[in-house]
Amino acid sequence: MATQPEQINDYAFIINLIYARCRIRLHEGKEHLIKARLGKRMRHHGFETLSQYCDYLRRGCDEVELTHLVDALTTNYTQFLREREHFDFLVGTALPTVLAGRRRFRVWSAACATGEEAYSVAFYLWEHFPLMAEWDWQVLATDVSTNALTRARQGVYREERLRSLPPAWWRKYFQKGQQSWEGHYRIKPAVRERIRFEQINLL
Ligand SMILES: C[S@@+](CC[C@H](N)C(=O)[O-])C[C@H]1O[C@@H](n2cnc3c(N)ncnc32)[C@H](O)[C@@H]1O
Repeated sequence: MATQPEQINDYAFIINLIYARCRIRLHEGKEHLIKARLGKRMRHHGFETLSQYCDYLRRGCDEVELTHLVDALTTNYTQFLREREHFDFLVGTALPTVLAGRRRFRVWSAACATGEEAYSVAFYLWEHFPLMAEWDWQVLATDVSTNALTRARQGVYREERLRSLPPAWWRKYFQKGQQSWEGHYRIKPAVRERIRFEQINLL
């Protein structure tokens, strides 16, 4: 069905809102994505059309709804060791250069999504800057999406998510789930303790 003029205004309203709040650009042509992702919010409030939901937002809804909106419209795609060469660069070039002999440092994963990036950094640091050897490091992991952060803090992943990691790291850094958690792996507490997750909007 063709998009009606009043719907065009609604989509433009949502596109402007998410840009103003997070600098996320949802270009025109993403109408289907917007509608699909906001469907749950519309149903939650009992709205049948996107226009009704937009009117509710325009009237000045609360912060909680805006948080749900951001959660719905952010794309949290990630994986362990995504773009592996970045991690090699971090431990092989960047850190040795900036540390210049210091043994205490902090790393910031600034849009960490569901945590895989922050944990990947921690695994790499664990391998190259062992804590037993007096290295003092921690990772701050932040994102604007509260949903993504909840999952990141849990640190529980389905087995297939671990396939991009060396097999030896499965045992070293994860606890294997039993019974109802069969097929899932949880980051070991010693690694989770090195990471602090916080909501930060980069804007
Ligand atoms: C595609 S994911 C990338 C995750 C990870 N950095 C990686 O490369 O695998 C992008 C993340 O950026 C977050 N994001 C978008 N705009 C943001 C903002 N203004 N402040 C903080 N995080 C933001 C989204 O919530 C999402 O989780």
